[in-house]
Amino acid sequence: VEVDLGPYQHYMQKEIFEQPRAVADTLGHAEFADLSLFGAKQADWKNIDSVLILACGTSYYAASTAKYWIEDIAGISTQVEIASEYRYRKTVPNPRSLVVVVSQSGETADTLAALRHAQALGHQETLAVCNVATSAMVRETKYQFLTHAGTEIGVASTKAFTTQLVGLYLLALTLAKNKNCLTSEQERIAFNRLRHLPAAIHAVLALEPQIIAWSEAFAQCENALFLGRGLHYPIALEGALKLKEISYIHAEAYPAGELKHGPLALVTEQMPVVTVAPNDALLEKLKSNMQEVKARGGKLFVFADSDTQISAEEGIHVIRMPEHYGDLSPILHVIPLQLLAYHTACARGTDVDKPRNLAKSVTVE
Ligand code: G6P
Repeated sequence: VEVDLGPYQHYMQKEIFEQPRAVADTLGHAEFADLSLFGAKQADWKNIDSVLILACGTSYYAASTAKYWIEDIAGISTQVEIASEYRYRKTVPNPRSLVVVVSQSGETADTLAALRHAQALGHQETLAVCNVATSAMVRETKYQFLTHAGTEIGVASTKAFTTQLVGLYLLALTLAKNKNCLTSEQERIAFNRLRHLPAAIHAVLALEPQIIAWSEAFAQCENALFLGRGLHYPIALEGALKLKEISYIHAEAYPAGELKHGPLALVTEQMPVVTVAPNDALLEKLKSNMQEVKARGGKLFVFADSDTQISAEEGIHVIRMPEHYGDLSPILHVIPLQLLAYHTACARGTDVDKPRNLAKSVTVE
């Protein structure tokens, strides 16, 4: 596919900057948490008592974020599984589960096989959250939600991820409403926040110069650690994945509470520790995890919200996000991590859009 790069250096950078548009298009005219968003009818999901989400790669991290949303907002038990694991193990199928496949391409061999495996086990309620309308997963599922990211060319997924998150958040709201546990006031507030999301993303993209300054230090490293908690743990995982995919720096993500169970042994002055630190209920816990890193001479690179009391000092670098965004905060916090990976890779001179050994869509096992 030939797409004009415009002012950008790579497709990945262009796609990162397209996210306000991609998110707006994915939301479309949606104003209510309606089953019709998924091509479902009122009666369809009345027996759903749990959700099983199957995916690979970046789509798996979108799925992992969705687990937090669906359990929190809809109170429905949710399991997330890597497609290549699910398809080969003996599971205990629950016919009342909604089986969701999340995939940019809709053609990933393991995810498609996992869907077919679930169907063979008797699962009939299947939903695809997908970016390609003509794909196999869209054809083979009962319900569909199309993300409108547009063609994604960079191998490292960016706009597909944030639009998947929009679709999955709408799913959490819809499941909640379907169970009568979403008030119309909560629904109205959630949709207002969704509508304002493109503008909020735009403000985050303006942090690029500060992130470029950090990327110069990152380009010198061979290892990095990413920390997050709760909803932002999958975002830390996605940030580490982006960095390893395109800059070839070894990166790992941990839920910050696990630090003392292993990764703290790796922390030295040479180890940058990226911390996703939104102003949520877990912030105080996260701050004490940060102290544990600092006490061992680790260098913290913190993405904090504007209203958090985290300030830059010796060994602590801080970039402030423009605003705290509640439940939707993961959609904003992933963006500086995409930019950090992108600019670090550029500083190292790698082939950003076509990283070695990786493919955009893995259609063979
Ligand atoms: C490949 C791509 C990733 C993508 C994954 C899953 O590994 O390089 O960017 O996240 O496949 O692809 P899917 O199309 O199923 O989302």
